[in-house]
Amino acid sequence: MSTATADVAVIGGSGFYSFLDGADEIHVETPYGDPSGPVTIGTVGERRVAFLPRHGVGHAFPPHRINYRANLWALRSVGVRQVLAPCAVGGLSPAVEPGELVVPDQLVDRTWGRVGSYVETGAVHLPFADPYCSRLRSRLGAEDEVTSGGTMVVVEGPRFSTRAESRHYADQGWSLINMTGAPEAALAREQRLCYAPIAVVTDMDAGVDEGSGVGQAEVFAMFGHSIERVKALLGTVLADLPDPAGCACSAWADDLELTYDVP
Ligand code: ADE
Repeated sequence: MSTATADVAVIGGSGFYSFLDGADEIHVETPYGDPSGPVTIGTVGERRVAFLPRHGVGHAFPPHRINYRANLWALRSVGVRQVLAPCAVGGLSPAVEPGELVVPDQLVDRTWGRVGSYVETGAVHLPFADPYCSRLRSRLGAEDEVTSGGTMVVVEGPRFSTRAESRHYADQGWSLINMTGAPEAALAREQRLCYAPIAVVTDMDAGVDEGSGVGQAEVFAMFGHSIERVKALLGTVLADLPDPAGCACSAWADDLELTYDVP
């Protein structure tokens, strides 16, 4: 069993399978089963960084089959307190465009049937009005190429939305659509982790695009084109992240008795 530890983690999205080349790879066992893949731990600048491919090596897991609980538990168990979470998203508003990097500030969970909590017993109701870490969001938003704000609706998938569904989401004023942002963000909060998504706009969703509808090839190709920019952004922000100590993301449970394991 490795004793490698890290302070911060990156959860890679579609096609983002490696980040810390040549670093230690460890297999973490969790009470919730296997995480999506091995956790790679290495150094970026002065920081100890863990990387986990959300969909597994070679995209083994579609969004609705990812073991989100195991993933967040595994990262926390190696010492992680802050998580940066790149993900592919569709655009629902003409205000965003493919290729843009966005750090949303709100989330709407339209998934169903996923295991979305560690809480199995007792009264543990977490505050989630602001689903993302404000310190991490501010740090990311300070970068010129990052657009800050917007609401990301997370759908069950794995299919893309119909035009009517997509228009409905757009009519609500929601700007981004994705399939993995929930329950990942809520589980990160339950694990008392600071968490912020880095949404890579890969396409305009079916309700706002006159074309033939969104396809997987388009999404993967655009995410692939953006990966080097996402890696460069991560390199910059990882060098100078805010201090997680005392952040509301970890303090919310100070007066509660948690009924599940926070490693
Ligand atoms: N991920 C990337 N693009 C998407 C879209 N249009 N709908 C849902 N998830 C997505």
